[in-house]
Amino acid sequence: MKPSIVFVGFMGAGKSTALRAAAAEGLSTVEIDELMEKSFGSTIPQAFERHGEEGFRAREAEVVGSLLEKADDGGAIALGGGSVLSPRIRAAMARHTVVWLQVDATEAWRRIAHSDRPLASDADTVGTLLATRLPLYEELADAVVPMGDRNIVRRALPMIRKLPDLPAGTKMLWASAPGGEYPVLVGRGLLGMEWWPLQSRRFLVTDRAVGPLYRERFVPFVALCELEPGETAKTLANTEIVLRAMTREGITRQDHVVALGGGVVGDLGGLVAHLYQRGVPVVQVPTTLVAQVDSAYGGKVGVDLPEGKNYAGAFQQPAAVIADTEALATLPPAELAAGFVEVLKTGLLAGGSLWEQVRAIAQIVPAELDDVVFACARYKCAIVAADELDTGLRNVLNLGHTVGHAIESATGYTAYRHGEAVGLGLLAALRLSQADALRDEVGEILARHGLPTRLEVPIEVPNILDALGRDKKRTAAGVGFVLLRQPGEPEIGQLIDPPRVESAIRELMA
Ligand SMILES: NC(=O)c1ccc[n+]([C@@H]2O[C@H](COP(=O)([O-])OP(=O)(O)OC[C@H]3O[C@@H](n4cnc5c(N)ncnc54)[C@H](O)[C@@H]3O)[C@@H](O)[C@H]2O)c1
Repeated sequence: MKPSIVFVGFMGAGKSTALRAAAAEGLSTVEIDELMEKSFGSTIPQAFERHGEEGFRAREAEVVGSLLEKADDGGAIALGGGSVLSPRIRAAMARHTVVWLQVDATEAWRRIAHSDRPLASDADTVGTLLATRLPLYEELADAVVPMGDRNIVRRALPMIRKLPDLPAGTKMLWASAPGGEYPVLVGRGLLGMEWWPLQSRRFLVTDRAVGPLYRERFVPFVALCELEPGETAKTLANTEIVLRAMTREGITRQDHVVALGGGVVGDLGGLVAHLYQRGVPVVQVPTTLVAQVDSAYGGKVGVDLPEGKNYAGAFQQPAAVIADTEALATLPPAELAAGFVEVLKTGLLAGGSLWEQVRAIAQIVPAELDDVVFACARYKCAIVAADELDTGLRNVLNLGHTVGHAIESATGYTAYRHGEAVGLGLLAALRLSQADALRDEVGEILARHGLPTRLEVPIEVPNILDALGRDKKRTAAGVGFVLLRQPGEPEIGQLIDPPRVESAIRELMA
């Protein structure tokens, strides 16, 4: 039985437009609203009026449930906004590829304000209704397509159609930013799959720890470069070494780079792709938790200078991100814990259900992280979509990084892993936010996962302050901090009196 593509989403999300895109690809299509009108012999508002919402939903469960239970021609079906409320319909969706078309409350209301939809009387009602349905869409979705122009589903459709051939449980996010759109795949066993997003030849950039574990899965590749593992490899010198290796191997603009590894490989591999003959595509294959929840997405690529972290870089959105969560099983536990700090940061920034999920994690078990990885990827990509070039909102991702980067830089990038330093930075940022109870809780979470909560290496405070003064994000007015009084409510660009900053850092040494 061939699975169908089932479009779900709130009123005004563009389900009918999506169906037209599917029809244009030759798929058979069914619009549930039309089916319901036929079944009732009236318009939907009339059916609501005559039978009430309960009567409407009961008939919908019957009609849509049996349609989904029988559907086997690989066609496309657009559900009604509230169809997901029915347990029978939800159960029948399990066999199909469910695509969640996202829309926010403001845009939904703008699109439907003048329609006669029975449950959409005003903007507030729309907001409340959307909030109650979001968890259902989120839980059901195999693929997520963000709000975009009218053709976004048409562009994402080939990838959506591929999903049933990928390992079971794989989720896809269609990441969309002004600088490029790309599929993000999160799943188990993706590194062993035959399918690959680009047809051209691949040049592998990896490191000496990851290469031996996974490079065979990428055969055939033209050649590979293996860096020394760790942050100290993220240099301009290594960038040149890789660029020259590509030249020697005859890589052309038709080929592409595969960055297989953690954030270091991803950042350097992305920069190399950006520079090589003024740009070749890069497929990011993140293998650490840091990279799977954060660094692989959003197109910031670059290397460190001795004077400052990530000081030389560019923006280049990947051609695809393939995050195989099975790869986390070979990650040393200390790296896994350090990566968890980016998860913690994302939970704090997003608030809501993600924060609840993250704070409840008693032990970091790689096999249990798939949903969290996908949720973090979605959060990051949504921020990048709104502010790709980091001129405002994207700054939120820097929560904990201002002090974190200064600690890394002042300790020569060797004393702490990136995530460990950011964990300490989170504690400082929360103290500066006067979120004392939250700081205590974050301290407990860090300790629970064996992460440092105190700066224990011998290091002078002035050295950290010096490094802070060179923060890339500083302006003429000073270094702007990301503060967070409550989970889900970050504030960017907050200038803080230097003595308060110093005391938040000294507290880490107490
Ligand atoms: N570009 C961005 O938006 C962004 C965002 C966050 C962080 N970063 C950057 O990411 C870097 C940190 O990334 P990281 O923590 O992944 O560090 P990393 O790349 O150094 O990887 C950590 C260690 O884990 C090893 N490793 C990786 N995957 C493995 C696997 N599956 N099995 C066994 N070992 C494995 C590596 O060899 C390395 O020794 C920093 O340079 C940071 O600046 C970039």
